[in-house]
Amino acid sequence: MHFFEYKDQELYCEDTNISEIAGKVKTPFYLYSHATLERHFRVFDEAFRGIDHITCFSMKSNSNGAILKLFSQAGGGVDIVSGGELYRALKAGMSPDKIVYSGVGKTAEEIEYALEADILMFNAESPQEIIRLNEVAGSIGKKARIAIRVNPDVDPQTHPYISTGLKENKFGIDINKSFDEYVKASKMDNIEVTGVSCHIGSQLTRVSPFVDALKKVKELIARLDDSGIKIKNLDLGGGLGVTYNDEKPPLPDEYAAALRENLGGMGLTLILEPGRVIMANSGILVAKVLYTKANEDKNFTVVDAAMNDLARPSLYGSYHSVKPVKMDSTDVINMDIVGPICESGDFLAKNREMASLKQGDLIAVMSAGAYGFAMSSTYNSRPRVAEVMVKGHKYYTIRERETYEDLVKGEIIPDFIK
Ligand code: LLP
Repeated sequence: MHFFEYKDQELYCEDTNISEIAGKVKTPFYLYSHATLERHFRVFDEAFRGIDHITCFSMKSNSNGAILKLFSQAGGGVDIVSGGELYRALKAGMSPDKIVYSGVGKTAEEIEYALEADILMFNAESPQEIIRLNEVAGSIGKKARIAIRVNPDVDPQTHPYISTGLKENKFGIDINKSFDEYVKASKMDNIEVTGVSCHIGSQLTRVSPFVDALKKVKELIARLDDSGIKIKNLDLGGGLGVTYNDEKPPLPDEYAAALRENLGGMGLTLILEPGRVIMANSGILVAKVLYTKANEDKNFTVVDAAMNDLARPSLYGSYHSVKPVKMDSTDVINMDIVGPICESGDFLAKNREMASLKQGDLIAVMSAGAYGFAMSSTYNSRPRVAEVMVKGHKYYTIRERETYEDLVKGEIIPDFIK
């Protein structure tokens, strides 16, 4: 459920008319609904009521400081994957004891930074990384609290680029080999084994792969327990899917119930790393039609947002619903909605049947709050767009549009060229 709705044929975000925001901040821009963000976080978190748990928002989906602060104030933590994410999280006031750190390629500098910050747990993804964690912790007189991220070889039945829990994927340590690695890690001087972690993929639309993975992880925890290695934290990652088009993913309550049934009094702290389920439908990308043109086969609508602003359609062939901000046409045509970038892969929607658009019309690219701005770039020297948040009938810029000066910031022309 979200708060982007038509009132008298005009699209609103909560009580704010989107055309009016566009008139002030110019297009393109990302727009987030405060009420939706708050609701999504709360619904997810409350689905696990009664279970000792931490909702660690997966900030790779959206790392804007205002959004992070909102979730931190709601009691959340974060799942990070880089030193940069740690920096942003700390700056937004996230409590270090609610920060978990995943990723296959943590550098020694990043590890040291996270140890100094005293984060809750590293999710280690290889035997060599565990050795590195032990070394770095020893060099600064700290202990690294770790989980091993296990790869359970469960098919999440999602897009191959966002499947992570199969043997062919680069993530984690094979669950069948992880026991031996736990034994080794538990003997290291500067390692404290505290958890098991597992994330099998993103945009999952069924609960069964989560449950299959949980069952395998449970067996591992029992085996570790028998050999004296006590696990405190069970990190089940993120991955719950959303509706972009006609998908019917389980609701957070159904997801939580399925996990709950299989957790059965394990007496652990459960860590969850939702990203998309909270963010995707809390944000949209607003763009303006620059030109329309047609040939015998196709209608093209050229808008001022492009694949650098929203990479998902080009990168994964993802579907994002596109809505007119003002519903003033009833003439339905088939069109490609494309951006100004010089690549045929630059499209936001292909073969879309929708009401025709004309120059100057505004469109809303829906479900763009997750992996939208976060994956944007300045390709074709296009400054990154603004981010705006609506609360009720007011809007707030939460990141300014970049300028041309920002594009060249840090560039140095060496003397021999001058
Ligand atoms: N935890 C870990 C360790 C992850 O790798 C991810 C996502 C998450 C949590 C959050 O997953 P979520 O709840 O958002 O599904 N750029 C792609 C998605 C990449 C997801 C990568 N990992 C997209 O736009 O669909």
